[in-house]
Order: sequence, then C-alpha cells, then structure tokens
Amino acid sequence: MIFVAPEVALLRGFGVPTGPLEEAVDSISRAAPFRQLRTPGGRPMSAQQTNCGDCGWYSDSAGYRYETFDPLTGHPWPPMPEAFRHLAVDAARRAGYAHYDPDTCLLNRYVDGARMGAHRDADERDFTQPIVSVTLGAAATFLWYGEARKGSPVRIRLEPGDVLVWGRSARLGYHGVQPPEGGTRFNLTFRRAR
Ligand code: SIN
Ligand code: FE2
Repeated sequence: MIFVAPEVALLRGFGVPTGPLEEAVDSISRAAPFRQLRTPGGRPMSAQQTNCGDCGWYSDSAGYRYETFDPLTGHPWPPMPEAFRHLAVDAARRAGYAHYDPDTCLLNRYVDGARMGAHRDADERDFTQPIVSVTLGAAATFLWYGEARKGSPVRIRLEPGDVLVWGRSARLGYHGVQPPEGGTRFNLTFRRAR
C-alpha cells in the first residue's frame, strides 16, 4: 500500500482476480440496469450508474440522495455480493480502518469518452467511514484534487483490480476520473451512507 496523498491509500491489484467481480457486476446490472442519471440541473451525466446494497445513490431534478428502492424498477437494489463486501472490508482494514461496514456500492460504467468531473462524495450521513473505490475493465487516470476543486490534481493511473481508499481528513476530498483508455471501465464505490 502506498499513500498518493494524505489519507488516500492506493492498493495496487488488491482486487485481482477481477473475473468474479466482473461477473457480479453483470448479474447486478441484469436486475438493476445501468442508466444515465441527470444532475439536479438537468444535465445527463456521462457515466452510467446502478447500485447494490441497502440503498443506492440517485440523482434527478429532486437532487442528490440515497434511495431504498430503484426508481427505474421499483424493486429494492440487488443485495451487495459477498465478494464485494469482503474486498471492501479487507481493503479498508489494510488502509487502517478496522470497522468498515459499507451499506451501499455505486457502480459506474464508462464508455465512449465518459468521464467524471471533479466532485466530492458528500451525500452520506457518516463521514467517519472511508470511501473504497475499485477499478474493473479498462484503465483510466484518476484525479485527486483534495480540499479544493481547482489546482493541479495528483494523477493516478488505475488498472483493473486497483483499489483506492480515502477517509479521515481526505473523506470529503475532491476527485474525478478521465475517460477509459479504450474499452469499457467499471468503478465500484463503497460507502456507509446511512
Ligand atoms: C466516482 O468518484 O464516483 C467514480 C470515480 C472512478 O470512477 O474512479
Ligand atoms: Fe466520487
């Protein structure tokens, strides 16, 4: 494990082999399809999203929030696969968080130049627990801005199976990601939301 910024841990290859995780993404997306959400201002986001776990992150004209039921299907989000939970809890422990207990995982799918602009994950109730972020599929460059959205970010090239963990003083840090380097990239973002 190395720290790429204060309280931002990079665990290279921690999610290898990625095959079982990718199969789980596939089965989640059959029950809760990837879809393009809109920002509260009405702009479509370039990544496509779905969720698993007890609740799921959602955005539309009513704002950013967590939903217990998938608004697209009316059903609860698919349960978090054990392989997901184990990976997230083990990565958090390795990064110094002994009691991580994520209740949701946001899945992002990036195709055709999709990216994620600088933002911070601030819709959760519990900021004492870290974010665990896993790359699957194609590689991409992750951008860590830290306390302010501006300035030149730390650039981290993430390959499939790489895991980032950020918390404590970095929990509300600004971050984004560039488009995948060919092919489709998936990202799993684990959180304690409620
Ligand atoms: C996110 O911040 O929601 C996704 C980051 C990533 O895809 O690496
Ligand atoms: Fe994020």
